[in-house]
Amino acid sequence: MASSSKAAQVRIAPSILAADFAQLGEEVCAVAAAGADWIHIDVMDGHFVPNITIGPGVVKALRPHCDLPFDVHLMISPVDCMIAPFAEAGADIISLHPEAGPHLHRSLQTIRGLGKRAGVVLNPATPITVIDEVMDMVDLVLVMSVNPGFGGQEFIESQLYKIAELRARIDAHMAAGGQSIDLEVDGGIDRETAPRAIAAGANVLVAGTATFRGGPDAYAENITAMRGSG
Ligand code: DX5
Ligand code: ZN
Repeated sequence: MASSSKAAQVRIAPSILAADFAQLGEEVCAVAAAGADWIHIDVMDGHFVPNITIGPGVVKALRPHCDLPFDVHLMISPVDCMIAPFAEAGADIISLHPEAGPHLHRSLQTIRGLGKRAGVVLNPATPITVIDEVMDMVDLVLVMSVNPGFGGQEFIESQLYKIAELRARIDAHMAAGGQSIDLEVDGGIDRETAPRAIAAGANVLVAGTATFRGGPDAYAENITAMRGSG
């Protein structure tokens, strides 16, 4: 499963879903100081997924606390009407699920038209082929290794094959002159699953529980363990 991109820098994107919501500003600063590369922000609406989390107002409030890219994962439907509010709030990368709206191509156009990087999220049961016709307009593919909605779930093994297959397709796309595409994995990432996701070809790891476990004194060691484990 090793790939030509395996040596590429591995980025760690802590999901603030596992942070202390009573002090999110401090938590974002703490993981940034501990070596995080991106801040992963899980947006849930209680409709597309069975949980409710963060709106654009919280993203806007966090923006002055941190210079790292904000990686905003939208688990909401309808989604198109909320792209601009999150872009204006300070998102740098905006990712959405193809099941969340009727016109994926249009949604990606909207994100890029706002000057943001566009991502497509594949649920465990969503086939890779959903991105075939939009490969030239995605900046990131996010493989869900849990069903979306909650942190702290168990890693779904079958998604390693999907990561490896996507790595091959992305490398072929880039070798043919296509744009750079990040391959991110989200859900159940810890010190044991991180090296396996990296070996399969992921270059960005989302980690909520495994980053925030142990409190601020443990963040740097938690992040280093996952990044270095490849
Ligand atoms: C699930 C979210 C994930 C989640 C990851 O819907 O997209 O980002 O917070 O949490 P852990 O790392 O605890 O599995
Ligand atoms: Zn997420």
